[in-house]
Amino acid sequence: MRAFTDRDLEAAGRLLAARHVAHRRREPLLDARFERPDVAAEAVLAAWQKDAASGAVAVRGGATVGYLVGAPKADPVWGDNVWVDSAGHAVAPGAAEVARDLYGYAAQRWVDEGRTAHYVLAPAGGDGGPAAGGSDALVDAWFRLAFGLQHVHAVREPLPAAPAPRLPLVVRAAEVADVPALGALDVALPAHQARSPVFGGAAVPTVEEQTQDWADTFGDPRFPTWVAQVPGPDGGPRVVGAAVGCALTESRTHEGLALLPDAGFLGFAAVLPGARGLGAGRALGERVLAWSGEAGHACCVTDWRATNLLSSRAWPRLGFRDTFWRLHRTVGH
Ligand SMILES: CC(C)(COP(=O)(O)OP(=O)(O)OC[C@H]1O[C@@H](n2cnc3c(N)ncnc32)[C@H](O)[C@@H]1OP(=O)(O)O)[C@@H](O)C(=O)NCCC(=O)NCCS
Repeated sequence: MRAFTDRDLEAAGRLLAARHVAHRRREPLLDARFERPDVAAEAVLAAWQKDAASGAVAVRGGATVGYLVGAPKADPVWGDNVWVDSAGHAVAPGAAEVARDLYGYAAQRWVDEGRTAHYVLAPAGGDGGPAAGGSDALVDAWFRLAFGLQHVHAVREPLPAAPAPRLPLVVRAAEVADVPALGALDVALPAHQARSPVFGGAAVPTVEEQTQDWADTFGDPRFPTWVAQVPGPDGGPRVVGAAVGCALTESRTHEGLALLPDAGFLGFAAVLPGARGLGAGRALGERVLAWSGEAGHACCVTDWRATNLLSSRAWPRLGFRDTFWRLHRTVGH
């Protein structure tokens, strides 16, 4: 074991490219370019060039069999942190156990620097893992370092058309008159995620703040928005849900190997608490899946907190398949 240096970029690129070949056997919608060692090495370089990056390399019999590179993110929501991003680690086939040595070497420095919240973006485990390239073994190694599954990235093909929603639901493009309802829905998501069992760290804004935000930005063609409505108590339509689509490149959460090419993004969806579980989320999600195709995207990506009991059940039911898992550990307890 030794510290990662510039001289390790080429070997790291080879290991990452091999990891990605195995990963793409499980999910062909991932970006084929990273199967090339030179392109993978560029992704490692981007991770390595981040401020305060550091890491480790494992060498056995003269050959590099694993590497790990992490760097802090500035956003205070992540705490005193280090992130190992999608290009930040790979091990040789059959050498998943080495991930534990790499972390053991690198993490001492991170904790000595006071960075005790650790995040790792790993290829998702699941069916066919070890047989298809050892991905489950890698996740298993992280789990035996006290990491747990915090967040899921996922993808699926666009829909050729949105199926008709279950009656009496109607899904339509949002209008300016929907801005107050959109403001309320924009609070419903962080309010849900602030509570058990997510306990997310993001601040919950007020309905007034979010309504003003929607009023300031409504109609931006980069962010097509739909609402779901049902008959209200007075018989008139009542908006109970909303969803926003955009190009995946608009998202800060997806970078490196997790930034899939030509991808649309289900960037926001929420249904009011009293209307959940009745099909509005499915109808909105399917609308965004159909829009992804209409807009010429090859696929549609979304992501969710693994601890969000609602979205973690809804989006897989719509056919989204896990691509990357964000694993998380807080040191010191
Ligand atoms: C996530 C959310 C948008 C889903 O909307 P919804 O209207 O509740 O979901 P739906 O009723 O359309 O259900 C969608 C699918 O998930 C399934 N599902 C929903 N709740 C479920 C539950 N508690 N257990 C198991 N499956 C469930 C449904 O069966 C449905 O699949 P099906 O159509 O094949 O039967 C909504 O619950 C919500 O606003 N949650 C809080 C905010 C949030 O988490 N937003 C998403 C952030 S990523």
